[in-house]
Amino acid sequence: MGTLVLLQRIQERKAAVAVVGLGYVGLPLAMAAAAAGFDVTGFDTEAHRVESLTRGESYILDIDASDLNAQLAAGRFHPTTEPTSLAGADVIVICVPTPLRNELPDMTYIEEAGKMIAAVLAPGRLVILESTTYPGTTEEYLRGILESSGLHCGSDFSLGFSPERIDPGNTRFTLANVPKIVGGIDADSTSLMKAFYSAFIDRVVTVSSPKTAEMAKLLENTYRHVNIALANEIAILCHGLGVDVWEVIDAAATKPFGFQPFFPGPGWGGHCIPVDPAYLSWRVRQMHQTAHFVDLAREINDRMPAYVVERIGDCLNEEGKSLKGSKVLVLGVAYKPDVSDVRESPALAIITRLRRSGAVVSFHDPHVESVDLDDGQLDGIELDDQRLREADLVAVVTNHSSYAWDVVARHAPLILDTRNALKGIEGRIVRL
Ligand SMILES: NC(=O)c1ccc[n+]([C@@H]2O[C@H](COP(=O)([O-])OP(=O)(O)OC[C@H]3O[C@@H](n4cnc5c(N)ncnc54)[C@H](O)[C@@H]3O)[C@@H](O)[C@H]2O)c1
Repeated sequence: MGTLVLLQRIQERKAAVAVVGLGYVGLPLAMAAAAAGFDVTGFDTEAHRVESLTRGESYILDIDASDLNAQLAAGRFHPTTEPTSLAGADVIVICVPTPLRNELPDMTYIEEAGKMIAAVLAPGRLVILESTTYPGTTEEYLRGILESSGLHCGSDFSLGFSPERIDPGNTRFTLANVPKIVGGIDADSTSLMKAFYSAFIDRVVTVSSPKTAEMAKLLENTYRHVNIALANEIAILCHGLGVDVWEVIDAAATKPFGFQPFFPGPGWGGHCIPVDPAYLSWRVRQMHQTAHFVDLAREINDRMPAYVVERIGDCLNEEGKSLKGSKVLVLGVAYKPDVSDVRESPALAIITRLRRSGAVVSFHDPHVESVDLDDGQLDGIELDDQRLREADLVAVVTNHSSYAWDVVARHAPLILDTRNALKGIEGRIVRL
């Protein structure tokens, strides 16, 4: 099948699509493609995820079970653990994890996915990588794995990179209304990608190469990474200066140009911001260069959980109490509001440090039942007035929108608010 034939099949929604990896990125993509009319195979190696989807149960907060069931009932979504099911797909999108292992890029998931695709690859297919990764991955790494099929990239199959910009929990900016960057290894690959994503995304932006698309994603996340670190450092400096950092930022943000507010917090978390810039840093180290801003920002952001614990210790000290033996109730352990994701969450580091100092730590999170710590699992508690009153200190770590902060302020004897969640509320509240 040539490019024109595939283009037509995509435009007519007749192309079969396979999404490899059904997580925060892959499942919403699969749902959007199915809703646009494509026949979508959802492939994941985790049997329990596939079983849950087959039953019509979503494990991603942003995906409603009703939408999932609608696509299953329409016969447009087929969850599977069977790699041979990729054989029938015209468009294959890879959304597997790209974590760090020992602080270095862990490429094993992309490698494994690439090998599975190579085993079934046929001429005329389009393969897209969406996993966030270092510049050069698509052309210098994935391409070779796919070509182990004996097919030649460009003449036999198309290939490109399109970064995912999904923001889990964000209802204003969704998959459909955030522009999608696409960069193919050649013009045909780029136009196929553009046609595919245009079926369910309002605006598709083409760039000249996969490497440009890969780098654009890393710039976006490095920008956030560096600015969060700046806000965190300013928060520490403001505390020393006796100035309220939140008031400072609000005042600075009244400037209508040249300033975008970023806010301090207990650290950084999730699968993207703490991880992605490390991919850039690693790649430039190979060129004997240094990504100075990335490395400095990491140092500052990594230190925040220890700083929060120091501040908790100071607050208790003011009360004549020591960390050791004090009851600290942590509110929110997900890495950001209104999600259940605890990957790289600073709350975990804060809880671990508090426990090491002898504090008696409990936590509540409306979206998280338990967390795995180095020394075992910790279950969340039910939150009520009594629990709040019993704590020596309540640490607000994640500002989920479902919390009634006035109730928290009314009952907690002392609060350290790392998110300015209790802005304007009366109580014994210390802000970061
Ligand atoms: N979560 C986000 O907000 C976000 C945003 C933008 C980009 N990204 C990037 O997207 C990629 C995926 O992230 P995610 O958050 O969806 O991860 P995730 O862990 O939620 O999902 C990944 C899925 O891939 C599956 N998987 C692993 N190896 C596989 C294989 N060989 N074949 C098929 N399935 C396999 C896992 O079982 C899992 O279900 C990462 O590179 C991440 O950096 C994530």
